[in-house]
Amino acid sequence: MSEKTPKTMGQQFGRRSWAEPWKIKMVEPIHMISREQREQAMVEAGFNTFLLRSDDVYIDLLTDSGTSAMSDRQWAGMMLGDEAYAGSRNFYHLVEAIQTYYGYKHIVPTHQGRGAEHLISQAVIKKGQYVPGNMYFTTTRLHQELAGGTFVDVIVDAAHDPTSLRKFKGNIDLDKLGALIERVGADQIAYVSLAGTVNMAGGQPVSMENARQLRELCDKHGILIYLDATRMVENCFFIQEREEGYAHVPIAAILKEFCGYTDGAWMSAKKDNLVNIGGWLAVNQEEVFDAARNMVVIYEGLHTYGGMAGRDMEALAIGITESVDDDHVRTRVNQVRYLGGLLTSWNVPIVQPVGGHAVFLDAKRMYPHLTQDQFPAQTLAAELYIDSGVRSMERGNVSAGRDPNTGNNRYPALELTRLTIPRRVYTQAHMDVVAESVKTVYDNRANASGLKMVYEPKYLRFFQARFERL
Ligand code: F0G
Repeated sequence: MSEKTPKTMGQQFGRRSWAEPWKIKMVEPIHMISREQREQAMVEAGFNTFLLRSDDVYIDLLTDSGTSAMSDRQWAGMMLGDEAYAGSRNFYHLVEAIQTYYGYKHIVPTHQGRGAEHLISQAVIKKGQYVPGNMYFTTTRLHQELAGGTFVDVIVDAAHDPTSLRKFKGNIDLDKLGALIERVGADQIAYVSLAGTVNMAGGQPVSMENARQLRELCDKHGILIYLDATRMVENCFFIQEREEGYAHVPIAAILKEFCGYTDGAWMSAKKDNLVNIGGWLAVNQEEVFDAARNMVVIYEGLHTYGGMAGRDMEALAIGITESVDDDHVRTRVNQVRYLGGLLTSWNVPIVQPVGGHAVFLDAKRMYPHLTQDQFPAQTLAAELYIDSGVRSMERGNVSAGRDPNTGNNRYPALELTRLTIPRRVYTQAHMDVVAESVKTVYDNRANASGLKMVYEPKYLRFFQARFERL
């Protein structure tokens, strides 16, 4: 424990310290290039951290997607790949793992989360229908729009307030949903798009109570609920910690109960499920399964591999089992909160409470002198990289994109820079280095001059847009 940490993890959360339930067996060297080289690299990347080469990055907090370290068991599983084109035994292991831990009936494998989003959107949404959900996610909403749907945000208001300390800021506001059903009619609602945790709100959780009440409301109107289960295991940790009656219930049991209130789920297995590539769609309805399983052969691959190699499916099946281990989830979320705790103690504005997968810096409060058109969160990500080689990403105006009907910018309430922590990859010392760099950038905040966008791609512009300094 270094001297500069204000409190150890144990002190911070009222118990003796504990550590990750693993030790490191293999390491990958990283290094920091010079400040001059980082300046140059940022200009060449058009001030977009997605356009940096990873060799030029020191600590990579761009995303927790596909960046986890696999266990020795998962690597052993990679050697057991059955690479048959059809009916690979690894597929059946995967199906069994999903049915055991998530509890859905029918499984369609996909290459990653957006492959599953594509299938469910095309299979269920009819042109002109609405898709209410607890805040948008970039790829999810785009697939819903491409299928002819209109996403409607029905998350609780607190989700849009980075200072609100509510325990379950990912909850659906059932009054907002009820009003939408009344206004457009239940027939015009394709399904409720429920995500746990809510990425764009800062990794905020949904309560079990909210899921239960949502089920009741939807049953009354015959509306389906599909879950974005990408970070649902982390959501279950917050239920265990914060919701009455769950303190002694294992994560695995909480997960099974929560999924039981929904009709199916899509999954980016690159997050919770601890693999570098993979995804799945799971549904209980035969007709939706039939449609998705037929479509997967057009876009992903045969319905028993969906774009994954046999070995990938084996590593994923094992990853699912490891992902619901209580000690694993607790150390994962608490590492994120350790970083958040340091920044909070230094008065750096971040989204509170700290969520499951990332610390979100509040660029609006950090750079009050910049307008949203000067891209404060994009600016902050660039400044942080230049300071220390730490790579983060923008989750604000650039990510929100344009309204497809009007072509206007969407200007979200939240203008955030995300420090996303890969699972089982970095140590507490890495978190200290990151926190100290954020503090330096925060201390120099008055000097930040903002950016202008000089190249804007049509879809998901945050991945490929280019900027210049103002
Ligand atoms: N849903 C959520 C909540 C996600 O965070 C992501 C991806 C997806 C769906 C799409 O899955 O990437 O496997 O196709 N999020 C990554 C991130 C990219 O950095 O947050 P995918």
